[in-house]
Amino acid sequence: MISTLLSRTRRGADGDPVPRLAYGADYNPEQWPRDVWEEDVRLMREAGVNIVSVGIFSWARVQPGADQWDFGWLDEVMDLLHEGGIGVDLATATASPPPWLSTAHPEILPVTADGETLWPGARQHWRPTSPVFREHALRLVRAMATRYADHPALVAWHVSNELGCHNVYDYSDDAARAFRDWLRARYTTLDALNHAWGTAFWSQRYGDWEQILPPRLAASHPNPTQQLDFKRFSSHALKEYLRAEREILREITPDVPVTTNFMVMGGTKGMDYADWAEEVDFVANDHYVVPGPQDRDELSFSANLTSGIAGGRPWFLMEHSTSAVNWQPVNLAKRPGELARDALVHVAHGADAVCFFQWRQSAAGAEKYHSAMVPHAGADSDVFRAVTALGATLKTLAPVAGTEREPARVGILYDWQSWWASEQDSHPTSLLDYRQEALDWYSALLALGVRADLVTTRADLGRYRVLIAPVLHVVPADLAKTLTRYAEQGGHLVTTYFSGIVDENDHVWLGGYPGALRELLGIRIEEFGPLPAAETVELDDGTTGALWTDQVTVTDPETQVLARYRTGAQAGRAAVTRRPTGPGSAAYVSTRLGVEGLTSLLPRLLEPAGVTSELPADARGPVELAVRRGPAGRFLFLVNRTDATVPVLGLAGEVLLGARDADGTLTLGPRDVAVLRQPAV
Ligand code: GAL
Repeated sequence: MISTLLSRTRRGADGDPVPRLAYGADYNPEQWPRDVWEEDVRLMREAGVNIVSVGIFSWARVQPGADQWDFGWLDEVMDLLHEGGIGVDLATATASPPPWLSTAHPEILPVTADGETLWPGARQHWRPTSPVFREHALRLVRAMATRYADHPALVAWHVSNELGCHNVYDYSDDAARAFRDWLRARYTTLDALNHAWGTAFWSQRYGDWEQILPPRLAASHPNPTQQLDFKRFSSHALKEYLRAEREILREITPDVPVTTNFMVMGGTKGMDYADWAEEVDFVANDHYVVPGPQDRDELSFSANLTSGIAGGRPWFLMEHSTSAVNWQPVNLAKRPGELARDALVHVAHGADAVCFFQWRQSAAGAEKYHSAMVPHAGADSDVFRAVTALGATLKTLAPVAGTEREPARVGILYDWQSWWASEQDSHPTSLLDYRQEALDWYSALLALGVRADLVTTRADLGRYRVLIAPVLHVVPADLAKTLTRYAEQGGHLVTTYFSGIVDENDHVWLGGYPGALRELLGIRIEEFGPLPAAETVELDDGTTGALWTDQVTVTDPETQVLARYRTGAQAGRAAVTRRPTGPGSAAYVSTRLGVEGLTSLLPRLLEPAGVTSELPADARGPVELAVRRGPAGRFLFLVNRTDATVPVLGLAGEVLLGARDADGTLTLGPRDVAVLRQPAV
């Protein structure tokens, strides 16, 4: 789908339906005088750009007043791009309401948990549930769709922008009304809601739907199920809004695919993208690197998870940065090689499009120090040269376009319900970090050179020989059954501390932890043993635990103890266990081992499943392997994770990117990416 998007441009540079990778950026021509636009198109062609996202923040410009429209400038931009052979991913322009709207209708402005209004002056100052906002926004969507339905530059629709980036949690009266409607649909009766929310506690019993509010700032901890449901509702409300825009677009341009840019990255937690994925014609994602010890692993993790959300099908990298961003405490420039490597890691994990925020670096506004494809210095710059080189690389990688991810033998389950619930307040520890635990397992697998797929609960889990489910906190009865069946049928399940603890209503499974998985794991825990921030415990296999321990009792004589606590309150007790389940097994890791500890433990967990690295011995660790496949072949992406030169010996295949030495060794320079093509299997 993405790889053939550009064939819609009809008169494009090559103008044919041959699959190719898309390359481009957000393009904001309204920030520049007319004469810059022509230079933009010329430079875009020079860089190999073939798609741009236009109009994302153009509402005030295309609709300067309630009944005033000004499309002339945008018509001209669309024509110029089309003449340049560049396709347009056209935004519906609804991301940032103009001052005339927020002045006339302040009731569209979001409200925080403590009752503060989020005023205009930045962006995304709208309530996802505001009927007034929706009326105005959908009118604009209809106007945009009608105006550009037949424009030959139009290749896709871009709904709003990063839905929920700043406004996912709104506690306004509109939100309260919509929350009640959502709860009515979920529970039907107040009795069911009272049961689910456990309102017998602290005298919270509701006698009327009108008494229910969002979890606004309260005297103490708000009801946990109310909080969890509000998270579910808030994600759902934005999804409903996405659908409302999409329905208009589909009505007017049924043949033009619709997407919106997700934010699978860092700590963006509010939107359950596993639940959103089927609402778009192709998944699109934005990603920004936050510097830190695992920053490039996190990039790979996010790209991999995006692929999981997209069901292994190709997806669209809608934004990332050529160099520094502007929103971190210190905004680091990328080092040589990082621009290309970061982009290609996304491609390795299924991106069929590589786009940046943004095309030309702004001279004014809050993002004037955010890097772009054309920096303040202009085209005579290292950044623009790297951008142009990447454009050429993406052309040579055209055969990759349209291929899917080749499933790995290890899956890592990522679940928004568990993410949300495990990190709520009034828990055994406030230090638990769901994403970090999952990332640590991923980093450990990278360190061993073992490929793994990030997947959601919607995936076919049975295809994985090993399924790692870190902090799978919320385990409804049907998920417990699925996991039990998985292990009994030969799968090797690995789970961790604080997993299997509650059902979908955040009610604890009783009788000893981890209630939902107790029998499967063959253990029973009477008390949690979280550790203070600075405290660690030693295990008898030489690893070190932090954050958490459990008072584990082995209940099934078959359950093996892989490691015991050597120090701390649980000394002598099991720390890591595995229960054979016929051909499969179910393992439990009761503490946070971190990347180093997991790297040391994992071979013992992978061994019964027969999983080892697919990489040559010397490359295990320094090199990341990702594989895409399709009718055109099997594509091996080899990413140098280090700042040193790494030789990769003995991997067969035609070199699409990179070079072999005379003896056939593929040598990866610091931060290099190589791509090999093997015949389709
Ligand atoms: C994204 C956003 C872009 C731009 C970018 C800067 O969140 O969609 O419009 O603000 O961040 O990193």
